[in-house]
Amino acid sequence: MNLDLSAHWSLGGVDIPGRLVLAPMAGVSVQAFRRQGRRYGAGLVCSEMVSVAGIQHRNERTLGYLRVGADEHPLAIQIFGSEPEAMAEAARMVEAAGADIVDMNFGCPVKKVTKTGAGASLLDDPDHACRLVDAVASATELPVSVKMRRGVENSSRVCLDVGPRLVEAGASSLTLHPRSAKQMYTGTADHSLTAELVSLVDVPVIASGDVTSRARAQSVLATTGASAVMVGRAAQGNPWVLREIMGDDREPSREEVVAELVLFMRETVRELGDQRAFGFLKKFYGWYLGRGRVPRPFKQELVQLPSLDEVEARLFEAAPGARFVLERLLSELPDPADEVLLDSLPISIYGGG
Ligand SMILES: Cc1cc2nc3c(=O)[nH]c(=O)nc-3n(C[C@H](O)[C@H](O)[C@H](O)COP(=O)(O)O)c2cc1C
Repeated sequence: MNLDLSAHWSLGGVDIPGRLVLAPMAGVSVQAFRRQGRRYGAGLVCSEMVSVAGIQHRNERTLGYLRVGADEHPLAIQIFGSEPEAMAEAARMVEAAGADIVDMNFGCPVKKVTKTGAGASLLDDPDHACRLVDAVASATELPVSVKMRRGVENSSRVCLDVGPRLVEAGASSLTLHPRSAKQMYTGTADHSLTAELVSLVDVPVIASGDVTSRARAQSVLATTGASAVMVGRAAQGNPWVLREIMGDDREPSREEVVAELVLFMRETVRELGDQRAFGFLKKFYGWYLGRGRVPRPFKQELVQLPSLDEVEARLFEAAPGARFVLERLLSELPDPADEVLLDSLPISIYGGG
């Protein structure tokens, strides 16, 4: 059994330099998150779900637009929708923007998405799910992956019927988050289903759900035979968990934490604009500074400050040496001129998977 997390593998012909994948998370997986994920050891990163409906209805309320940087590759862009033609069109846009993989969301449990026939509800309509995969795979040269839940109802095993059919329809890889849509994020991910799925298909399977440490990553790889593990919530404000999973368990210094947070803030302002970033970033203060890294009242103080400039100043006051770490991080960023802006693909404001 190969448990080497840095081993390369192939997703439909795309070389993935490592068996750790950063999860798509709506409201989290902005460009700064994906870039950081790559720097800390993820072999593949994924955008949060982007709405295919948004292509046709430009007035949809959105958070902002996807931006793809030269340092993100390999990158999967995730689309969600329920209309084969619209999905195909989105796939062509994703390809034109330079993504390496088109990922399809068949896992989102949020009502606003499932009631439109998209996300996890597709697991209840395998014929239509296959039509969507076929439409997307026919529209693009890129490999197509599908991310799904175990099924809609608790204890469902529907993923084991649908998964092989999606592969037949053209999916080059499957990611399984083995919770039901009804479960949302309660209970635990049942990776015995992941092992069963691996035995049923001859494409790579990525295991998603409750991977929070190197020990857990290795045990999921060993017991499922999956090609890679995906990490989501554990990496929120915590890229160091990716480093730990890849075998380097150094704790970050306060300067490192503050520098990464400030870089994250600045990049997010660039992507979402000042006003949207201000609200968006609030949840990240607790995520970065939690885990006993700074006392709780400090985090509460940050959330109450009236501007991002003041948050930044307060952070540097608490860790002056962070300025030097930040300078180094900034000097390593690629030239923004090499970026592609996908202004036709809006980032969803309601998501999940
Ligand atoms: C805030 C949040 C947003 C999410 N958004 C998406 C999404 O846009 N697309 C998707 O496929 N999964 C989404 N997920 C599911 C994750 O990708 C992942 O499968 C799930 O969180 C289980 O992994 P974890 O235990 O490592 O967090 C989201 C999860 C969370 C917590």
